[in-house]
Amino acid sequence: MDNDETDKGLSELLKLVIYLNPYRLYFYSALVCLFLTAALSLAFPYLMGILIGGSMGGGDSIADPKSVEENINRVALILVTVLAVQAFVAYWRIRWFAFAGESALADIRKAAYGKLVRLPMSYFSERRVGELCSRISADLTLIRDTLILTVPQIIRQSVMLVGGISFIAWASPKLTMVMMLCVPIVVILMGIFGRGIRVQTREAQDELAASNVVVEESLHGIASVKAFTNEDYEVSRYSESLKGFVNLTLSASKARALFVSFIIFALFGVITFVVWYGAGMLEREEIDAAKFTQFVLFSIFVGAALGSFPDILSQLHKAVGATVRVREILSEEPEEAHNDNQLSRLRGEVEFSDVSFSYPSRKDIEVLRGINLSVEAGERVAIVGSSGAGKSTLFQLLMRFYDPSSGELKFDGQNAANYSLSDLRDQMAIVPQDVLLFGGSIRDNIAYGCPEAEEVDIIEAAQKANAHGFIQSFPEGYQTIVGDRGVKLSGGQRQRIAIARAILADPAILLLDEATSSLDSESERLVHEALESLMSKRTSIIIAHRLATVRGADRILVLRDGRFIESGTHEELSCKKGGVYKMLSELQFN
Ligand SMILES: Nc1ncnc2c1ncn2[C@@H]1O[C@H](COP(=O)(O)OP(=O)(O)OP(=O)(O)O)[C@@H](O)[C@H]1O
Ligand SMILES: [Mg+2]
Repeated sequence: MDNDETDKGLSELLKLVIYLNPYRLYFYSALVCLFLTAALSLAFPYLMGILIGGSMGGGDSIADPKSVEENINRVALILVTVLAVQAFVAYWRIRWFAFAGESALADIRKAAYGKLVRLPMSYFSERRVGELCSRISADLTLIRDTLILTVPQIIRQSVMLVGGISFIAWASPKLTMVMMLCVPIVVILMGIFGRGIRVQTREAQDELAASNVVVEESLHGIASVKAFTNEDYEVSRYSESLKGFVNLTLSASKARALFVSFIIFALFGVITFVVWYGAGMLEREEIDAAKFTQFVLFSIFVGAALGSFPDILSQLHKAVGATVRVREILSEEPEEAHNDNQLSRLRGEVEFSDVSFSYPSRKDIEVLRGINLSVEAGERVAIVGSSGAGKSTLFQLLMRFYDPSSGELKFDGQNAANYSLSDLRDQMAIVPQDVLLFGGSIRDNIAYGCPEAEEVDIIEAAQKANAHGFIQSFPEGYQTIVGDRGVKLSGGQRQRIAIARAILADPAILLLDEATSSLDSESERLVHEALESLMSKRTSIIIAHRLATVRGADRILVLRDGRFIESGTHEELSCKKGGVYKMLSELQFN
């Protein structure tokens, strides 16, 4: 099973390789350069051996000191030339590798983010934002480092390994036997070590992501953290989740430390053995000084190559884990492929027939049970009911963030599923219960959803929403930056921005979820005038706790425990003996 997982991880890693395609020219050129520099590095110990060995006066040229000197000069010259070529090639190798790697990675990031924002709501309700952020940032950074730093390393070290062993094999088959004996031992050990470390690295990554979630959440709600003087609690929550990460990485590093120390011992053992054996050959005059020096240098190179594999391997394991997580996002089904068949405007009929619904994250709790509601085009329907009754959930179904568990939702007599999601959502505008503004100017926030809107229309929408006044009072007016690092707007101001947004969108169906709940009575009255004219031309569904807001509706529905229990106009319901609405209105108006 463990092997399956690795195979899966590796094949996932290979699937990411397609992102290199557009840059393959650079990538392959970089690979060629890489092989070239690696091969040239082999010339280094070879020539160095001749240089050192020659200067010690060995080999056939021993008789003639003058030719020895000439020889040395020539070799030194070649060596310098090789180094120059190597330096030149290495320059381009790094630049091309970086270009191909970074570009491909940026594409993967874009693809992952693009996929993420198109995933259905249910995906987000089952995951934590911090974890998803960590995939886009931490996991992809890991993959980047692997591609740009580790892959060249693997190739380089493999060339050194094979080249070095080949040289020794060519020079002395006996010595090679000794070296080759060590290789299987190292490979087996790498297997054992890899098995343990793989699981731990993956778990460690998960733990790290979990601790990031704590940071995210607490910084998001920093005002609450401070208000409840919960700093210490948050710090302990963070330390707690960090502890898991540290423990896992520590035990992974234990395995690695063991492995590395064995490698060091084995390697230096082998090198010592080779040198010792070579020294014997030198004494018996089976080889000359130059060759002996080459032996020593090649053995060190081979040793260094072998010694680098544990780190390479652990980096690869991390990358495989990260890839699996990123690929999980990339292979999710998006909500819907974007299609361009533009729907002409809806008339605005809405019908729920026997709709039941429970959130995918809490399947056992039925939020809506057998909802029947048919709204005519242009009708104004208000929904009231206690907190948690399921009012906002109705809107979520209308926006098709979720689909009903059973029953049917229709627009203009057609099943909602027959429309494309983007078309359908274009026909609706929602002023949500808690308005979130995006980092950007007030203008951009009002035009969110219709980016091509004209300046005059934006201002007109703001005027209707009774927002123009406060926007004008800011020194930078409509260009004022709001959101995380800009001006913090009050709840009521945010609501008015959202109303302006809805006015500008000019939708066929208007959804107001407590749209004026944060306004004072005076502003509410003003905004209501704007909403009146806004609602007159389209189907509107209004959720409100304050019954003053719903009085003028054509029909009022009372929702309780996921069912409509009363329906009628304000006058009708106010007279209904023992009715819930009657009770509510008596509480509010008297
Ligand atoms: N994303 C979600 N996942 C799981 N359960 C949810 C989700 N959103 C809401 N619920 C649950 O569904 C029920 C109805 O929630 P809903 O937001 O529709 O209430 P509401 O009528 O709008 O209340 P309020 O007047 O307080 O806004 C609640 O019990 C709530 O806990
Ligand atoms: Mg609600």
